[in-house]
Amino acid sequence: MNAISNISDTDRYARCIQASKRVRWDIDQDIIRGRRFDTAHKFSPDGLSLADAFTTLSAGEKRFVSQIQGRTYANIFGLVERFINAKVLELSEDHWFGDQVALEALVRFSDEELKHQALFRRIDKMVGDVLPDGYRFDVDPNAVAHAVLGKSTWAVLALTLDIELFTQLHYRESIDPDAELSELFKDVFLYHWKEESQHAILDELEWVRHDAGLTAEQRDRAVDEFIELVAAVDGILQAQAKADARYFAAKCGRAVDEAEARAIEAAFLKAYRWQYIHSGAQHRHFGKVLSSLISENQGQRIQAALATLR
Ligand SMILES: [Fe+2]
Ligand SMILES: [Fe+2]
Repeated sequence: MNAISNISDTDRYARCIQASKRVRWDIDQDIIRGRRFDTAHKFSPDGLSLADAFTTLSAGEKRFVSQIQGRTYANIFGLVERFINAKVLELSEDHWFGDQVALEALVRFSDEELKHQALFRRIDKMVGDVLPDGYRFDVDPNAVAHAVLGKSTWAVLALTLDIELFTQLHYRESIDPDAELSELFKDVFLYHWKEESQHAILDELEWVRHDAGLTAEQRDRAVDEFIELVAAVDGILQAQAKADARYFAAKCGRAVDEAEARAIEAAFLKAYRWQYIHSGAQHRHFGKVLSSLISENQGQRIQAALATLR
């Protein structure tokens, strides 16, 4: 990088710090504010939970599905933010004796992700207080983080930018003027996005910086590792779609035959793939940054892999 782009990068890190200070929020004072969840409300908006895909369900049953998905949302984010934070701390070492502005931006990023994990643990518990017993989320965030961090930094940053960009879409969906959508859950989407916006900028800065130090062969291998990571995320989503469909069938208050159970599981998986894979992969800015770093052939490999997850 030349001197001019170095100056502008420092400026971008500095702007992230300013924005981070400006939007900073507190879990209790700003988000929860003494409120509880109410099962009269949906927790996840229709555009994320893909309510229309659950064709055999009544309106009330779709609401229950949105509540299950809201709880899973909290758990999935709690999970991915474990490895994101570990990677951010690892990357910060590159700046220890260098750009102290970049270092401060990453330290704030890490601090925010720790707070977000605490928020999502609270939300999981608060949803658990109002929904029937029997919900399961059996994936261990530490085991996933170890597996993810075994891949190259390039691949992890690609996945991280993808994830942090789609929180913007999740926020947009949640501002849908739907009177049935929980105000408390809307605030979770809103406040989380406020801090994630800075994270996505920092992911891009770190990804491009890291990419500049790779050989063509290292990058080519990293593209394959990114594809492997997306497949690993999909494995988690498949298991959770199965668990959530089983929980729904056990607690919805009526008999669900085998064919319908399969259709419900498929609809959960479709919604989760949309939320956690395709909404980020199709994000215009993600596509722009990714294609600036890779060849056409590498792009085709990624698209071919994503097309199998439909
Ligand atoms: Fe977060
Ligand atoms: Fe984040």
